[in-house]
Amino acid sequence: MTDQAVQTPVSSNPAGHPERVFSGVQPTGNLHLGNYLGAIRNWLPMQDEKPCIFCVVDLHAITAGFEPDLADKTREIAAAYIAAGIDPEKSIVFAQSRVPAHAELAWILNCVARIGWLDRMTQFKEKAGKNKERVSVGLYAYPVLMAADILAYRGTHVPVGEDQKQHLELARDIAQKFNNDLNVPGFFPQPEPMILGPTPRVMSLRDGKAKMSKSDMSDLSRINLKDSDEEIAAKIRKARTDPEPIGGTLEEIDARPEASNLIGIYAALSGKTKAEVLEIYDGAQFSTFKGELADLTISVIGPIRDRMAALLTDKGEIDRVLNRGAERAVEIAMPILAETKKAAGFL
Ligand code: TYM
Repeated sequence: MTDQAVQTPVSSNPAGHPERVFSGVQPTGNLHLGNYLGAIRNWLPMQDEKPCIFCVVDLHAITAGFEPDLADKTREIAAAYIAAGIDPEKSIVFAQSRVPAHAELAWILNCVARIGWLDRMTQFKEKAGKNKERVSVGLYAYPVLMAADILAYRGTHVPVGEDQKQHLELARDIAQKFNNDLNVPGFFPQPEPMILGPTPRVMSLRDGKAKMSKSDMSDLSRINLKDSDEEIAAKIRKARTDPEPIGGTLEEIDARPEASNLIGIYAALSGKTKAEVLEIYDGAQFSTFKGELADLTISVIGPIRDRMAALLTDKGEIDRVLNRGAERAVEIAMPILAETKKAAGFL
């Protein structure tokens, strides 16, 4: 025993609110392998562990401009969730715009978040670029709406890709400031980011230093969940690599961004670690490895794509799932919003 004080970790949920998973995807552009490996796939086992809420964040989708076919894109994301293995009976699947509590809570939280906090958001800086004066106020306030999404359900666990980490830290700060300012300790839990698996950041197939992204101009940079087998194989074949064969230690491969990315993707899709994949392909040329990676990718993504297409032939059924999901979401969010308004002193 030492006489040093034992550091007890500060609980992010001191009031012991029930555990609840919340996550979401924007219905913009094409869903890709990064969304699948960084987020959706990690949600699947959680459905058996905790109550889960999976949202299609359509209000976020308009922050960079109104989307043509927003309703159809929203259905597409819902279909992708279900095709990937989300069970809408078990988990709540719904569209954000159908539950008014998100926008209403976001307004209250806009008055909690500080400009200085939002000024630090790297995703805003990247998206706004040199055009900061001309982007929408919505794009700037985007992370506050994201905090509202989670806190409207007192979400405790948030499985996302690594690019969302900073937004989640902000959500934690907002929750804490609300609790402190209004003197309601533990009112909101501080949501825990869950950044899981060997590929928390899947990189572009054309540039190992850029994230795989829906908005990349080059379609060759990403594998879309809607790509045909031939497209998947061609994109992997054309993926940029360096001239060296596969090999070396994990640290050495991580210093080769394109090589590291492809090995990470193989690891995530096969359920192996990167170290195991490195061992299997030690000394192999990329041409051999890419052929096997293409087959593996097609074997995982192909069936999801086909199920998604089948689900989308019956829009009425998807709408029924989303309607039922919204009803269930409202039942949780409305009482929390009512308590929030009371804590904030509204009539
Ligand atoms: P979005 O739609 O950009 O991405 C959806 C999910 O996919 C992950 N992701 C990636 N993971 C690994 N590698 C990549 N290249 C990659 N690209 C995207 C994202 O991290 C995310 O988990 N702001 C969120 C949506 C959102 C949300 C929320 C998430 C709104 N409210 C509340 C969680 C909780 C976003 O833009 O995701």
